[in-house]
This record gives sequence, C-alpha cells and structure tokens, in this order.
Amino acid sequence: MNNSPIGVFDSGVGGLTVAREIMRQLPNESIVYFGDTARVPYGSKSKETVTKFSEQIIRFLKTKDVKAIVVACNTASAFALPEISKETDIPIIGVVDPGAYAANKTTVNGRIGIIATEGTVMSDTYAKVLKGINPELQVFSKACPLFVPLVEEGWLYDSVTYEIADRYLHDLMSYDIDTLVLGCTHYPLIRRTIQKVVGDDVTLINPAYETAKALEKVLVDNGLSAENRKAEHKFYVSDSVSKFRTFALGILPCSVDYVECVNMEQYSE
Ligand code: DGL
Repeated sequence: MNNSPIGVFDSGVGGLTVAREIMRQLPNESIVYFGDTARVPYGSKSKETVTKFSEQIIRFLKTKDVKAIVVACNTASAFALPEISKETDIPIIGVVDPGAYAANKTTVNGRIGIIATEGTVMSDTYAKVLKGINPELQVFSKACPLFVPLVEEGWLYDSVTYEIADRYLHDLMSYDIDTLVLGCTHYPLIRRTIQKVVGDDVTLINPAYETAKALEKVLVDNGLSAENRKAEHKFYVSDSVSKFRTFALGILPCSVDYVECVNMEQYSE
C-alpha cells in the first residue's frame, strides 16, 4: 500500500503546480494525476456541477489504487471537499486549508487578501476557514478570471499580464493587506508579476507548496510514506493528450511519458 500512488486531480493543467511541489518535496511518492481538460474551467461553474465532476474523478482515481487523494483545484476544494470526502475512506486533502493556515501564520496585521476564481471567491471558503482559525482576521477577496487564460497562453511576464494584475489588485491593496493567498492553481506561475504589482511588503502564500507539506504530514501520520525508490508518475486527461503533455513538460521536473485520455462518462452514476 505504501508504494501505491497519490491521486492528484484538477480541472485541467493548473494542478500540475501542486503535482510539481509534491514531486519536489516528496520525491519517493508516485503520482496519478487527473486533469479534467474536457470540462475545464471549473472556476465559472456551479457548486453542484463541480461537486458532480469531482465525485466522478474520485471514482476514477479509486480504480488506480491510490493511497491518498489531493484535490489540487482550489475551486473543487472550496466547493466540493466535504461532499467528495464521503466517497472514499482513504485520506483526502484539499488546497484551501493548507493555504489558509499558512496565511494565518504569516500575517502580522491580520489583514489577508485572497485571489481566486469566481467560484472560489463566491464560496467564501477561504474566509470561512481563516475566520475559523482566528475570528479576528480580516479577509478581502477578489476574483481574477483572466489570469487562467493568460497563464495557459504562456504570458507569464508579459506587460499585458502586469497591467491586468494591476487592475485586479488595485482595490485589494487599498485594504492594507500584508498577506496575499494565490488561491488558484495557475497563479503561482505568475507570482513574480503579482509580487511586482503588490510590492515586497506583501507576502504571497502558495497553497500548492503548503499542500505538499500538509500531504507529507498526512502520509507520516497514517504510516503511508513510500519507501526510498524511484517514483513513477502517470497522467490522465479527459481531452487532448498532446496539448496536456506540452504544458506539463514546461513546468514539471520530470519526463511526461505516460498520458492517457479517459472517458469520464463511465464514472457518472
Ligand atoms: N484549477 C482551478 C482552480 O484552482 C482554476 C482553473 C479553472 O477555473 O478550472 O480554481
């Protein structure tokens, strides 16, 4: 069981930022990654739809004998984690709690900004978790829907991306936040641009990094850590294999040899 893979899923390619952190921090762990590339984006869809898709993905991952599941997608974590946890008895974690705990530890003035998809912002999950940790915290959220297509276009350091970031973050900065959570899978890829806009006095929190740390603790606590060996990663998508492979090769520290397209209809009830 310990050498079984970790299931990691996302609405598409963005969750590779989480897979990348797991590969860096837990190099012995194999990953089965599923990206729902046929049905992306989740960020503009309803809670019901995102929950239904996530449940289907859990059913798929269970067929791969995964020992734990990481919901890499912020929107799926925000909308669906409690529901989908009922689908399985193996450990399952999302990205919201690790990001929120790190933000709470980091802030000095108690004023935290969240940037995310429309769905994640609407769910208010980050704010609820943060207030659960410390009711004194003040949380300010902003949806930044254009960031996802900009990242997928590869415009990470482009002047257009800077301008859009500036427009989105202007109001947030007027609230005197000292900590900003990158609450969407894609945002760590433009963190340098975001940092330039908000300035060095604001600390950026990367939930992908925090989630890999949280995963390590879950594995250790459950006696599930893999032995020292060469990890093997497999990737599954619901749409074009070649488009996924190109993006994955651009950001992962490993080869992307095994990519398979899955028909998700067979996992609906
Ligand atoms: N993976 C999504 C998230 O982290 C972003 C892309 C989408 O909207 O599906 O919220």
